This record gives sequence, structure tokens and C-alpha cells, in this order.
Amino acid sequence: MAKKTVLVSGGAGYIGSHVTVELINAGYDVVVADNMSNCDMTCFEGVKKITGRDDIPFELMDCCDTAKVQDLFGRYKIDAVIHFAAFKAVGESVAQPIKYYRNNLDSFLNILDASIAHGGCNVLFSSSATVYGETDKLPVTEESPRQSATSPYGNTKQICEDILRDVIKASAAYGTEVNAGASAQGPVKGIALRYFNPIGAHPSALIGELPRGVPNNLVPFITQTAIGKRACLSIFGNDYPTPDGTCLRDYIDIVDLAKAHVAAVSRMLDGKMKKDYEIFNVGTGRPVSVSELVNAFEKVNGLKLNYKYVDRRPGDVVAIWADTRLANEELGWKAERTVEETLASAWAWEKHIAGIE
Ligand code: UFG
Repeated sequence: MAKKTVLVSGGAGYIGSHVTVELINAGYDVVVADNMSNCDMTCFEGVKKITGRDDIPFELMDCCDTAKVQDLFGRYKIDAVIHFAAFKAVGESVAQPIKYYRNNLDSFLNILDASIAHGGCNVLFSSSATVYGETDKLPVTEESPRQSATSPYGNTKQICEDILRDVIKASAAYGTEVNAGASAQGPVKGIALRYFNPIGAHPSALIGELPRGVPNNLVPFITQTAIGKRACLSIFGNDYPTPDGTCLRDYIDIVDLAKAHVAAVSRMLDGKMKKDYEIFNVGTGRPVSVSELVNAFEKVNGLKLNYKYVDRRPGDVVAIWADTRLANEELGWKAERTVEETLASAWAWEKHIAGIE
């Protein structure tokens, strides 16, 4: 049987590069499209080394460019798309909402429109647990209500989920004549994966997270503090109503997360979906506090981290973790790496980019 081809938009970034590796390991052909707005070629080069594949097609392009996206779908026979190409800094989105709405929505609309125009497609959208907002009904299931987003970034995740749902619904109800631009053709099916907190790096330490400037997220801040790029980690709040007073999150290993994408793509391509639009939580199901994570990092890597407790960060939810049963049962996928293994991989990657090991 001919190999299936998966387009990975944003495939040179943190999550995209790990997903590309796992797709290739699973026997798919991959086309990577990226405008490199938030990364350099480090991870794509790492992907080539890990997979031993020097021939992965790479398209330097912006998915907001309608003509280029249409052209791309004309040049490759794309069986499924995984759409990562989006901005993701919560604080920046509050300051620059138009930039976020334009980029994150336009790129997704272009991908959907081109998918339909070229015979239909299976679309995997990279969503976020941010859609659940603050709730005391934990863990959250896929049925848990979404809540008003607290940032334009979060809102783009909700809106893109809704766009995908509506496009799929229209495709099923009316065919695609009315569902897209002039050249509408094929049907659309899709899955939204709601990620919890992806952390860590590939065990090879050849790909990982490369934040630009001061990291917003916890683990890159920890590793940069450990290596001396940052003087001190600030732990935002130790007076939350949690066992140790710090926030609880569901930290999911990046390779486990990548494997969930392969399971979801295979489900779409192998005709195993139960509905045309499905949603799955991608997490471990285990809450870990910020203090626990810092302690685990120190222990597994045998070092002491400089940190202090400071005020709460505005907008943080107290606690969120996933009910993973649906993903476990339907995708046949389960998070496997321990948080210690993941934190060791994050440290190995930080040392790798610092040229230490
Ligand atoms: N934290 C610190 N110090 C830091 C950074 C983070 O104490 O320097 C704490 C945060 O307060 C939070 C936890 O570490 O309690 C995790 O913070 P992250 O920024 O790593 O992750 P978030 O849970 O805030 O963010 C995640 C995703 C975002 C998404 C957001 C919505 O990374 O994409 O959830 O809540 F928008």
C-alpha cells in the first residue's frame, strides 16, 4: 500500500519536530511547512539526524498566504494535515490581539480551504487545555464545559475548534460545494487534541524547546536557571488552595504527546473514527505541583536550583489535569515516560544547546 503523506504545518517548531519524528518512525511520509517565525533550523536538522532522513520535504512558507497554501496542496497529495502553525504566547496575545487573531485564524482557514479544494482531508488541530479555563470539577473530561477564554491566544484555540467543527458539519450535511471557495471538492474529518502542559525533549537531545527571549513556561525557565542563563526561578504563588500551595498541572512528555498525534492520524486515515469530529485530552491524568516539579528536577539531575516564591501570576488557573480515559481507550494511547525521565531529557537538551554535552 502506498505510503500516506501528512502535512505538518509549523513542523520545525517544538511540538512539530517531535511529531515529525514519530510520524516518520510510524512509516508516514511527512511534508513540513514552516515560516520560521518562532524557530530556527536546529530542530529540523535534529529531525533529519534522528530519522536518518535527509530528504524530508521542507516548505519555507507562511500558512497565512492563501495562494501558497493552495499551491502546496497542488504539489503534494496530502492525506492528512496536522496544524501547529500558530502564535502561542499568552501575554503577547493580550497586548497584540489583532496579530494573534489574524495569524492563528487565517492560517487555519487557508489550510481547511485548500484541503477541501484538493479533494478533502483529515485535519488534526493542535488545541489546548486552556479551553477548560478554571474549574473545580477535576480531572476534566472532553465533555467538561469550555469557558470564556482569558486571552486572545486561548480564544483562537476555541475559535479554531469551532471552525473545524462547523466545516466538518457542513461538509457532512451539504457536501462541499457550499463549504469552501470556488473549487470546493472533498469531505473533511478532524480531530482536536487538547494538550495539557507539554514538557521535555527527545531522548537523543537533538530536538527540544527553543524559547526566544525570556521563557514564559516553567520547564525552560528551570533549565535556563540551572545552566546559568537566568539568575533565579520565580515560583508564582505558594498560597493557592493546593496541598503545597503551588499550582497543579498535568505535565505531558513531548514524545508521548507526539505519539498521541500518530495515534490520532492513524485513526483518521484507517477509517476508525466514530464521529467526523472528535476531541481528545492529551495528558497523563496526574497532577503535579510547581514545587514538586522543581524538586523532581533537582533530584533526577543531581543539582540545586536557585528559586524564590513570588506573587501569583495573573491569569493562572489553580489546578488542571486531564481525564485521559477517552484517549487511552479510543486512541489506544497512553503517556508512558515518567516525569523524572522527562525532566532529565529537558536538562540534557539544555546542555546540548549550550554545547556542554
Ligand atoms: N510558573 C512559575 N514560574 C515560571 C513559569 C511558570 O511558577 O517562571 C508556574 C505557573 O504559574 C504555572 C505553572 O508554572 O503554575 C505552569 O506554567 P506554564 O507557563 O509552564 O504553563 P501554563 O499552565 O500557564 O500554560 C499552559 C500552556 C499555554 C496555555 C496555558 C493556559 O503552556 O499554552 O496553559 O492556561 F495557554
